[in-house]
Amino acid sequence: MEDVSLHILDIAENALRAGAKNIYIRLSVGKREDRLVLEVTDDGEGMNDETRRRSLDPFFTTKRGRRVGLGLPLLAQAAEEAGGTLDVQSAPGKGTRVIATFGLSHIDRRPLGDIEQTLQCLKATHPEVCFRFESVETG
Ligand SMILES: Nc1ncnc2c1ncn2[C@@H]1O[C@H](COP(=O)(O)OP(=O)(O)OP(=O)(O)O)[C@@H](O)[C@H]1O
Ligand SMILES: [Mg+2]
Repeated sequence: MEDVSLHILDIAENALRAGAKNIYIRLSVGKREDRLVLEVTDDGEGMNDETRRRSLDPFFTTKRGRRVGLGLPLLAQAAEEAGGTLDVQSAPGKGTRVIATFGLSHIDRRPLGDIEQTLQCLKATHPEVCFRFESVETG
């Protein structure tokens, strides 16, 4: 359903909510290994191990007055549908890294969408945060 760029917006929103001052978004395109990897790294408050595990549960959220938290589960679903995985690494007080892999040429891999526009939007709405974006080809 969602383009990869909209998932980036969701995952960056999580980082912003966690108080990140630096958000690093990296896309690696590996044509030879047929892999697309999206990594979003933040220096926000991080999560303890239990929260990190529960963060993939659609019925877990720390947003007040909400019953569901869909950003990470939807990204996990998009990755898995394209033969990939989602990994969340986090440490309290240090930050979080979300790593989604996709089969690059998989028929169910969502299109990238307008990544430039997504970044512009993030930068314009959060001028106090440093966003860094990199797109690399890993062969
Ligand atoms: N980068 C992050 N840093 C710290 N905590 C995070 C981060 N990303 C996710 N979390 C935790 O995991 C929970 C689930 O995240 P998820 O994006 O799936 O849902 P949500 O943000 O709560 O709601 P939604 O994305 O549907 O608006 C969050 O409520 C938050 O507690
Ligand atoms: Mg979210």
